[in-house]
Amino acid sequence: MKLKSIVLGLSLIALPALAQTPVYLDVNKPIEERVEDALSRMTVQEKVAMTHAQSKFSSAGVPRLGIPENWMSDGPHGIRAEVLWDEWYGANWTNDSCIAFPALTALAATWNPDMSALYGKSIGEEARYRNKNVLLGPGVNIYRTPLNGRNFEYMGEDPYLASVLVVPYIREVQKNGVAACVKHYALNNQEIHRGYINVKVDDRALHEIYLPAFKAAVQQGGAWAIMGAYNQYKGEHCCHNQYLLNDILKRDWGFDGVVVSDWGGVHDTKQSIFNGLDMEFGSWTNGLNWGASNAYDNYYLAMPYLQLIREGAVGTSELDDKVRRILRLVFRTNMAKERHFGSFGTEAHALAGRKIAQEGIVLLQNNRNLLPIDVRQTKRILVVGENAVKHMTIGGGSSSLKVKYEVSPLEGIRARVGSSAEVIYAPGYASPAVAEQDVKGAKAEQKEIDPVALRNQAVEAAREADVVLFIGGLNKNDGQDSEGNDRASLSLPYEQDALIAQLAAANPNTAVVILSGNAVAMPWVREVPAIVEAWYSGTEAGHALASILFGDVNPSGKLPFTFPARLEDNSAHALGEYPGDSINVSYNESIFVGYRWADKQKKARPLFPFGHGLSYTTFAYGKPIADKKTLLPGETITFTLPVKNTGTREGQEIVQLYISDKKSSLPRPVKELKGFSKVHLAPGQEKTVTFTIDKEALSFFDDTKHEWVAEPGKFEALIGASATDIKGVVLFELKE
Ligand code: BGC
Repeated sequence: MKLKSIVLGLSLIALPALAQTPVYLDVNKPIEERVEDALSRMTVQEKVAMTHAQSKFSSAGVPRLGIPENWMSDGPHGIRAEVLWDEWYGANWTNDSCIAFPALTALAATWNPDMSALYGKSIGEEARYRNKNVLLGPGVNIYRTPLNGRNFEYMGEDPYLASVLVVPYIREVQKNGVAACVKHYALNNQEIHRGYINVKVDDRALHEIYLPAFKAAVQQGGAWAIMGAYNQYKGEHCCHNQYLLNDILKRDWGFDGVVVSDWGGVHDTKQSIFNGLDMEFGSWTNGLNWGASNAYDNYYLAMPYLQLIREGAVGTSELDDKVRRILRLVFRTNMAKERHFGSFGTEAHALAGRKIAQEGIVLLQNNRNLLPIDVRQTKRILVVGENAVKHMTIGGGSSSLKVKYEVSPLEGIRARVGSSAEVIYAPGYASPAVAEQDVKGAKAEQKEIDPVALRNQAVEAAREADVVLFIGGLNKNDGQDSEGNDRASLSLPYEQDALIAQLAAANPNTAVVILSGNAVAMPWVREVPAIVEAWYSGTEAGHALASILFGDVNPSGKLPFTFPARLEDNSAHALGEYPGDSINVSYNESIFVGYRWADKQKKARPLFPFGHGLSYTTFAYGKPIADKKTLLPGETITFTLPVKNTGTREGQEIVQLYISDKKSSLPRPVKELKGFSKVHLAPGQEKTVTFTIDKEALSFFDDTKHEWVAEPGKFEALIGASATDIKGVVLFELKE
């Protein structure tokens, strides 16, 4: 009896605290209530601590209140290895080897939102398992020049394609309680001078070309975070840019998430306070900070911020806004109701990556139907090229990964061919060795290379082979497809052009496979029958490529950007400035980016146009019709056409809808992509493809009115297999 009453007495004392769960901890309460409750309990110091990094990739929570830290990871192709607290180098964990997914150019080349959803789901699960609550990706900077070293991390040259594809990626990532942090907002279209160059671009190009994918990410994808870019716009760094962050992103688009700086992209405390930044990462912590107990205290948004508040020089309303956003992020992710647990390095993820890669590989040319290779009729296959054996998941900057495994093209081909034929390998060329970027103190061992001997050996072997598969292209070395620098030219490096020409002369059955995230010049295009663009395909790269080369999978990818024949045929190089004078760069080409420029250049046809990609089967397009002749504002118009597989294999065709404005008050591109549909067709099968659009698809950004307008008048719907292969046209009119 006595004991019971003591226990009861104790529990009575303890009860009030136990019974009342604070609102912010109650996962059943609306997020906004939780945010306000948590905010009201925090000190100014705790708030400031949340707005800047505490390590290379993390920021503080509120330990006193049990609010966890934020942990971020690159992104965008896999979950990066753990690094040391304040270093870029790997921490040598043994349980952090991830699945690498194809580069985002490959995803864009699938033209398939289902593949984007699969990508987001898979990488989101990997991030979740690794206890990351922010994934630094995807990237949607527009492909302005083929020299940009980071194009492989983005989704091509067209704002509509990038907008459609970015949305499912974000939604699926975030279903795991992991925020997608879309990057790099905005106008980060080159790596040279990226830390300071001021981009001068007119409002039309800004709104029609460079912003739509970010807007879709925010408004349709519901992205919880966005990363500011390194460069400047209107003379302010994009990480604290009044116009881009406060006016457009937060006010016009209603973004309620967190603006994260790019690593080292913050330059000023007051601008960071007032111009829309919420979290500061990667500021340099050496030099200035010697002797500080914690270098992170010296971040622009750390002690200097607190100091200004203490002095009364700035108030706390901006701080509260930042912290509200950060708390919202925490409650959406780490403290969300029913958060999944994720999974990591699984077979399912590897196979998802393989499937995406298979759908993204583009068959650019296939004369004499050289591909697919029939192993039953092939005795000796020669594989040439460094990229057949080089690991492409390593290098390239922040997207570099430590992978569970990576199947190289040569391994993939060998696995597919088995004992049916002999597979011989000759490197043909070599790139300089580079040190592993994640390993502190790593040195690259340079081997003596005799390029002529390498080439001769490959060419000799080519004479003896039934088929030659040249697997080259770019790689992730500095100055190729890599962050921090741009390419020096459109040409293939390491004298590959000469090698390819000689291989083709030695053996007419030479297929060229390019691994790259960028267009490359192909002076030998008429000398080789088959050309494949296979991008960077991640963990399952070799299997994916082999399945295409040997016909287990019918290629169905199409180019997400134009391959110009010459660099001068690209508008940034023809008209615009590139890379600028190191202070400013002017996008004089305005809205005429990619095919929008190529279309204007009647004479200079691209090497391969936007939207181009072949199949092992053939498709016939029927005549498109519209459900009405005139469209009124508020209505929709629907175009339909039959598409038939006229070959003997099942395949997928990407049918594209472009809109052409016949007359307008401002210059407009000849046509613009406003719809696409990837249709799967069995041999002989026919399906009806449908596109429904409204006024929005007819509008342009009027920079005088500062709004989107659709002018009444005549329009054409052009339906085709690529930007230059238009199969049918329907005329219609927009009425007032
Ligand atoms: C890159 C970002 C990346 C960050 C963290 C920066 O250099 O521009 O894309 O997320 O580093 O690694």
